Amino acid sequence: MIDGVLPVTAGTAVAPDRVPRHIAIVMDGNGRWATQRRRPRAFGHRAGVKAVRKTIESCMRAGVEVLTLFAFSSENWSRPAGEVRHLLDLFLRSLRNEARELASNGVRLRFIGERERFSPELRASMAESESAILPSLRLTLNIAVNYGGRWDIVNAARELARAARAGLIDPEQIDQSSLEKYLSLNPLPEPDLFIRTGGDSRISNFLLWHLAYTELYFTPILWPDFDDAALNAALGEFARRERRFGKTSAQVQDAREGVDG
Ligand code: IPE
Ligand code: IPE
Ligand code: MG
Repeated sequence: MIDGVLPVTAGTAVAPDRVPRHIAIVMDGNGRWATQRRRPRAFGHRAGVKAVRKTIESCMRAGVEVLTLFAFSSENWSRPAGEVRHLLDLFLRSLRNEARELASNGVRLRFIGERERFSPELRASMAESESAILPSLRLTLNIAVNYGGRWDIVNAARELARAARAGLIDPEQIDQSSLEKYLSLNPLPEPDLFIRTGGDSRISNFLLWHLAYTELYFTPILWPDFDDAALNAALGEFARRERRFGKTSAQVQDAREGVDG
């Protein structure tokens, strides 16, 4: 191993300070993957679950701290009822099959999104897996289900308004951090890297607030085909990007040299 360099997998090495702390993924393309194989869309969704498992493992190996996966959007209810039912069944089954093993491997599960629309059975499984005791924390895994970025912001605004009405906060004092406290990812760091598979270049109402300064990465790979090599390509691209946050390139480089030297 090269000193100070983390081998993400064979053939790829990314310096540890260039590994994103938080990756957010829009897992898109299951339906097309199945259609290409002349199979029903459900076949693609099942294959998608395997890709989730592999991605969690790859992220842990790479040293990622937080992974946020978009599993079902607030707009996905508009799909044919049979597909919605299949997706929710698959979600419940996967949760039951995987939650215990994830916990024993140090993966903390959290769900973001509006839960009220789910069955009591599903909500109970979600709550149970969120409260699992971990031997140690290696990865925080957020699953976005019935999630919408606009819903998240509206929900936070409602909570803030309640706090103001109760006299707990002065409306004049409201700033970005007061709203952030009520957003569903709080207190986790914002995503450093956003990945969307499936070839479309859009956010589809994912983490609207949090993506303000996230590096965006789009790949034509369909989600069931997303593997270690595909993740490494994204990590490699991320490592080459310069994040300036409004500053000049010279300022950013000076700050880096200050850290390194
Ligand atoms: C992503 O794959 C999974 C969900 C949105 C639940 P799609 O089902 O959107 O697959 P395509 O985009 O139709 O190929
Ligand atoms: C985004 O995929 C949502 C998830 C991956 C869960 P969609 O397939 O629903 O996105 P659009 O409709 O093509 O924008
Ligand atoms: Mg899609």
